[in-house]
Amino acid sequence: MDTVKVALVGFGTIGIGVAKILLGQQERIAGAVGRNVKLVRICDKDTQRDRGVKLPAEMLTDDLNVILNDSEIFTAIELVGGIEPARSIILSLLKSGKNVVTANKALLATHGGEIFDAARSYNRSISFEAAVGGGIPVVNAISTALQANALCQLQAIVNGTCNFILTQMEERGTDYATAVAEAQRLGYAEANPAMDVNGTDTVQKLAILAHLGFGAKPNWQDVPRTGIDTVEAIDIVYAKRLGYRIKLLAVAEATPDGVELYVSPTLVRIDTPVANVRDSFNIIRIVGDAVGDVLLQGRGAGELPTASAIVGDVIDTILGRAKITFDTLNLWKKERPATKIKNPAEICGKNYLRFLVEDRPGVLAEIAGILGRHKISIASVLQQQDNESNNSPAVLIIMTHVSREGDTLAAIDTIDSLVCVRGKTVRMRVE
Ligand code: HSE
Repeated sequence: MDTVKVALVGFGTIGIGVAKILLGQQERIAGAVGRNVKLVRICDKDTQRDRGVKLPAEMLTDDLNVILNDSEIFTAIELVGGIEPARSIILSLLKSGKNVVTANKALLATHGGEIFDAARSYNRSISFEAAVGGGIPVVNAISTALQANALCQLQAIVNGTCNFILTQMEERGTDYATAVAEAQRLGYAEANPAMDVNGTDTVQKLAILAHLGFGAKPNWQDVPRTGIDTVEAIDIVYAKRLGYRIKLLAVAEATPDGVELYVSPTLVRIDTPVANVRDSFNIIRIVGDAVGDVLLQGRGAGELPTASAIVGDVIDTILGRAKITFDTLNLWKKERPATKIKNPAEICGKNYLRFLVEDRPGVLAEIAGILGRHKISIASVLQQQDNESNNSPAVLIIMTHVSREGDTLAAIDTIDSLVCVRGKTVRMRVE
């Protein structure tokens, strides 16, 4: 049997998982590929740390040139993450004739055009299944099996860390900081967990899915984004009382005015499949015009689930399947016209609003008046005061009917400037 050589750049949590599969499952992979797939080099700036994986001598290097100069290496896996040096590394790998497999959502969402054009110019491919949804084959599903469909809607939980934190807070009463630390310990979180909890990771994944599934080319920085760092235990309790669970949702929806895109903590009805996705699990609900609803669910983060997607891409690259998909999809191609993105101010939906207000006559009327003047209709009101003393502020929860995003934000702005309002209003969408 021939041997085909593979290299890995970036030996962190996911790299360790990839090495474990490539070194530990050689027979199975050879069976799938019809050739021996040999991991020959791993490059990382830290060659000293014990990662608990036994590597053949000479495999680990801190010199990328060892990989670039080896013309027998057919496929290289980039797991450095972030923009630089990952961007330069991918460009030099492509230039040296390697096909690239990456999990780098930040880079794809930011410089997809540049690196895909480079791959096209060198007649190579880039595969990125692990960039969205960890081990869930969502990129493959949209790129191949669902090609007969125009996508109508996509609704997704694509950040394992956030879903884990929300689950811990709801089910165990864990405080926010402890849940973040635990997600880091389990290898779910980004190097900088702020990227998870402030919604950046989710919005970058949404930008990739919006391009792949809807042909939009959003600037991820322009997509409306709220993270779970605004969610408090009290919101989880109130949501439950109202029949909902809070999930960080990424949404893309085709409308006559363009693709609607946003990321927001969202109240999802407790009896729906999306609400019941727990821990680091992710779910992507895709609605296609022919197929209807498709739900893809699985581990969205962590060492082996993410490595599963990467090794799958390596196998596809060696077999030539990745190149066929890469050549036919023309992703991030300059000449390809982009689908219009809907003006975020025109997005319509129901909202959950939590106010912290002085508990005195006229306050509710003042807030309701501002909502009314912005054409926002109230569906229900809940008020709680933990301390019965007259001076303590009250938590006021208002659920609204469908309103325009522009009106909702303007109303919140006005309300937050009132003397009777004691804190910044928390807003979440309601499905
Ligand atoms: N930090 C990410 C998550 C890892 O929690 O989902 C996968 O991209």
